[in-house]
Amino acid sequence: MNNSHLQLLENNKAWVTLQKYNDPEYFNELSKAQSPEYLWIGCSDSRVPANQITGTKSGEVFVHRNIANMVVHSDMNMLSVLSYAVEVLKVKHIIVCGHYGCGGVMAAMGGKQYGLIDNWLRHIKDVYRLHHKELDAIEDKDQRVRRLVELNVIEQVHDLGKTSIVQNAWNNDQELQIHGWVYDLNDGLLKDLGVTFKCAKDLHAVYHFEDTTP
Ligand code: CO
Repeated sequence: MNNSHLQLLENNKAWVTLQKYNDPEYFNELSKAQSPEYLWIGCSDSRVPANQITGTKSGEVFVHRNIANMVVHSDMNMLSVLSYAVEVLKVKHIIVCGHYGCGGVMAAMGGKQYGLIDNWLRHIKDVYRLHHKELDAIEDKDQRVRRLVELNVIEQVHDLGKTSIVQNAWNNDQELQIHGWVYDLNDGLLKDLGVTFKCAKDLHAVYHFEDTTP
């Protein structure tokens, strides 16, 4: 039997000892409450850990991860995370972070069947169709995947802005920005795609909800 998981429990004990050594009040303080400024929506890929690559500590980032960092409007899990982060925690920034070399994006570009996940990946095919002129014009396959990774992130920024959760926050003059970033597995650097949304005007008018705030 493989017991490699036991090492994780050992690592945890060593980590607790180190945290207490550095700051005896570490757990007392963190256990009181959380007030993160950031919501991170990233890929489940094991090589893109939100806190590590952003140099943030426990308590600083509220995290949601799924395959290919998607914002799917029928996903109760994502909507619940978004609602809690925006309405209760009142995060100031939402960061959608994709990554080059994303297996989900690569799978979506091909025709192979993978099972249930095909239904999830189809949303990425929709992103491809929306931008097919630009993508089909890129001859190099790797470059085409990289661009689809970027376009997928940009679409998810739009998809967040489309939600009533985000628009109600903007209508209430709550400070809330949505950013699109891509992580490069090859050099560890994050790239800002420059698609920051700060108000409903950043969205096409067809998506605008009427202000229902009293
Ligand atoms: Co990925």
